[in-house]
Amino acid sequence: MEGLDGCGKSTQLEKLAKVLRAHDFSVVVTREPGGTAVGEKIRDVLLDTGTSGLSPLAELALMFASRAQHIAEVIQPALAECRVVLCDRFTDSTEAYQGGGRKLGSGPVLELHRILCGDLKPDLTILMESDVAASVERARRRNNTRAGRNGHWKTDENRFEQESRAFFARVRRAYLAIAAREPQRVVVVNARGTARETHARILEIVRQRLKLAAKTA
Ligand code: TYD
Repeated sequence: MEGLDGCGKSTQLEKLAKVLRAHDFSVVVTREPGGTAVGEKIRDVLLDTGTSGLSPLAELALMFASRAQHIAEVIQPALAECRVVLCDRFTDSTEAYQGGGRKLGSGPVLELHRILCGDLKPDLTILMESDVAASVERARRRNNTRAGRNGHWKTDENRFEQESRAFFARVRRAYLAIAAREPQRVVVVNARGTARETHARILEIVRQRLKLAAKTA
């Protein structure tokens, strides 16, 4: 599942997992950066607004370090057991954020993916399409609310959410370029409506791919 910060990926992943489990699939829901103990430590470094001066290449390397561990420890073992892996972000995020947003280009990202991730590709990638302004605003509101619930009324933005509109416009463009390059794998879903509407769109696509019965899906 891919998309801009605040486009509602996590909600959609949970809803999809619920439906698939109701169809007796064994489902693993995971995320990047993170998904393993080591990966979560790397995630802390990457997202902490206190992390300053991280170079774009170091950022790229950390994203892939987290991913290589995630594949070895979680994804490959799950696939070997024929489980369904629903992942909140994968290499398309790196191509969009570090390749597009940070202007490192797709070349190094795809090369590292080949070397470090054995070129592992999702069977299906849902790209949730939303507007830059609305998504980033939603991510900021969400994080502020989250922090508020914990009783700390401080901002809990991550390091990426502090980026400029221009950064996210580049991320969005890079995502759409990936979808245009790999239309079989990447399906673009309009995520501007309600969570319920987006869920119905996603379900329709997954239902077709997995040939699930419509009535229960
Ligand atoms: P997260 O809070 O999970 O974002 P969201 O829930 O909004 O998707 O933070 C992940 C951040 O890391 C997000 O801003 C995108 C960024 N990211 C990259 O820049 N490159 C990557 O390869 C990945 C996986 C994430």
